[in-house]
Amino acid sequence: MPLVTTTEMFKKAYDGGYAVGAFNVNNMEIVQGITEACGELNSPVVLQVSKGARAYANHTYLVKMVEAATINYPDIPIALHLDHGDSFEVCKSCIDGGFTSVMIDASSKSFEDNIALTKQVVEYAHDHGVVVEAELGTLAGVEDEVVVEAGHESYTRPEEVEEFVSRTGCDSLAIAIGTSHGAYKFTPEQCTRNEEGILVPPPLRFDVLKGCIERLPGFPIVLHGSSSVPQEFVKIVNQYGGEMPDAIGIPEEQLREAAKLAVCKINIDSDIRLAMTASIRKHMAENPSHFDPRQYLKPARQAVKDMVAHKIVNVLGSDGKA
Ligand code: G3H
Ligand code: 13P
Ligand code: ZN
Repeated sequence: MPLVTTTEMFKKAYDGGYAVGAFNVNNMEIVQGITEACGELNSPVVLQVSKGARAYANHTYLVKMVEAATINYPDIPIALHLDHGDSFEVCKSCIDGGFTSVMIDASSKSFEDNIALTKQVVEYAHDHGVVVEAELGTLAGVEDEVVVEAGHESYTRPEEVEEFVSRTGCDSLAIAIGTSHGAYKFTPEQCTRNEEGILVPPPLRFDVLKGCIERLPGFPIVLHGSSSVPQEFVKIVNQYGGEMPDAIGIPEEQLREAAKLAVCKINIDSDIRLAMTASIRKHMAENPSHFDPRQYLKPARQAVKDMVAHKIVNVLGSDGKA
């Protein structure tokens, strides 16, 4: 099937108590690893492209690689989504250029300015058959060139969501409930330590999520910053010459709980980066004579596939839902 919007997949996810994974794509191996996992597990998927990805890989290459995936996996619903669009112009360029979904992230602006810009994007997108994700509240972490220090994030205010959605007409809403971008989601000071000395992050604010759901019944909620930064991968990176001290993510069980509620889209990028990098570092250390990129990119692509398969089954619950 051709690229789809997220309308149908979110409706099914909402009713079915699962979430669709939204994975960032930056090159061919990532597109292939993700879609191979989705094909085998019969899972719908959102492939998302950031401003940084477009600058790195080029808009047309990314669109054509994702279109190639729809040809290889004709039975899997695949949406092509702009991640963190920060202006009308970027959103328009993706709407005109083959995307089926865009995010306008005006969450750093005032409530009124966020509404005005989101509404402008929604009008253009809907005229062109494209859906729009908006955001209220700010996450900590790094996304493109925006850095929000841990402790300076602000949770979504449930009392604002109804007005925001009705005035903008957006199709889904990203909210801030304590997730965060990147591989360093919390400072050690924000965490506690368990008996083995492992950092334990503060729990997600399910009260905020439930407050939003009460005010927006049936409406799809999105969680950004939802990598779990599995420690076994951090260990491999560090063992083979990397330096990722105190990297920490969101516990998978909490994301699974959110997926059973109104959270229909869960964004994961850092865990894919981590899986690829751990694989490449290990391969290079163990095979110092290799210089053909296929030798280390093949296992790296497999590592992406394994990570995505794990997310589909253990976090999202989207297996068999294509
Ligand atoms: O939220 C940000 C995503 O992880 C994309 O990251 O802007 O470095 O491509 P990027
Ligand atoms: P992570 O950094 O937790 O993978 O989040 C990715 C994301 O939210 C992309 O928009
Ligand atoms: Zn994000």
